[in-house]
Amino acid sequence: MMLIIFPILLSFLGRIQLSHAQQCRLLVGNNNSGTGTPGGALGSPTPTSGSTGTSSSASTAAATPTLAPFNYGKDTIRGVNLGGWFVLEPWITPSLFQNTNDTSIVDEFTLGQKLDNDTALDILQNHWETWITEDDFKAIKAAGLNHVRIPLGYWSVPMTSADTNFTTSVAPFTPGAWPYFVQALNWAKQNGLHTIVDLHGAPGSQNGFDNSGQLTSNPTWGTDQTSVSRTLDIVRVITKKVGG
Ligand SMILES: *[C@@H]1O[C@H](CO)[C@@H](O)[C@H](O)[C@H]1NC(C)=O
Ligand SMILES: *[C@@H]1O[C@H](CO)[C@@H](O)[C@H](O)[C@H]1NC(C)=O
Ligand SMILES: *[C@@H]1O[C@H](CO)[C@@H](O)[C@H](O)[C@H]1NC(C)=O
Ligand SMILES: *[C@@H]1O[C@H](CO)[C@@H](O)[C@H](O)[C@H]1NC(C)=O
Repeated sequence: MMLIIFPILLSFLGRIQLSHAQQCRLLVGNNNSGTGTPGGALGSPTPTSGSTGTSSSASTAAATPTLAPFNYGKDTIRGVNLGGWFVLEPWITPSLFQNTNDTSIVDEFTLGQKLDNDTALDILQNHWETWITEDDFKAIKAAGLNHVRIPLGYWSVPMTSADTNFTTSVAPFTPGAWPYFVQALNWAKQNGLHTIVDLHGAPGSQNGFDNSGQLTSNPTWGTDQTSVSRTLDIVRVITKKVGG
């Protein structure tokens, strides 16, 4: 079991907190099945061998590289954000939205809401498999960077009723990105890069912007204790699955 160090970065209400004191051991590859994905009617897609080359399980089994702990507070973080991958943002991928021919699709929420499930999943799976590939991690490393930041939507975290007393439904979001996210963690590790995991979209939307997953004039995250407690359960599952 490989262990690396990474901080968890949470951006809520536009406020970024880098909990440098909270360095988690990253147990990448211990469970990348993606089973238990909310909205199980969609099934549990796993990365396929396609243009990205390596499947999640293959890349997990293939290499056991070590990644030295990063000296936070001492060494300089040089990183790049892998935006628009697991949380769609129309300004980053305009064609993905234009190709739906539906101007009411303005974020990942409406993509799942306005398209039928299979169509939405087809579009997203193709995007997850092609938007960032392992070659990008190699290029990031070759450019001299030491970190990647990966924004993740709450709807991609596989929650079961054992994980939370709140709803596990993520409708109308399309679940299924988790195995691709775990694969990304493996690619980072295998290419000598540390990962900052960023819960970028919280239940109800934390800021009303499309970058939360839902463009809305009525963001509800933080307006009640339920949304906050549910989010804490989600963060716990993230740390349980890929943290220490
Ligand atoms: C892997 O995750 C699934 C879904 O969350 C869970 O049911 C299973 O027990 C986990 N397996 C291990 C080995 O942790
Ligand atoms: C969008 O419109 C173009 C041009 O008419 C068409 O080729 C394409 O199939 C349409 N896409 C969808 C998802 O309906
Ligand atoms: C759900 O509620 C029960 C009863 O209060 C509690 O024992 C349990 O720990 C809760 N589960 C979670 C995941 O918070
Ligand atoms: C579409 O997915 C949602 C969950 O996101 C589910 O509740 C619904 O039943 C699905 N619809 C169909 C037709 O499968």
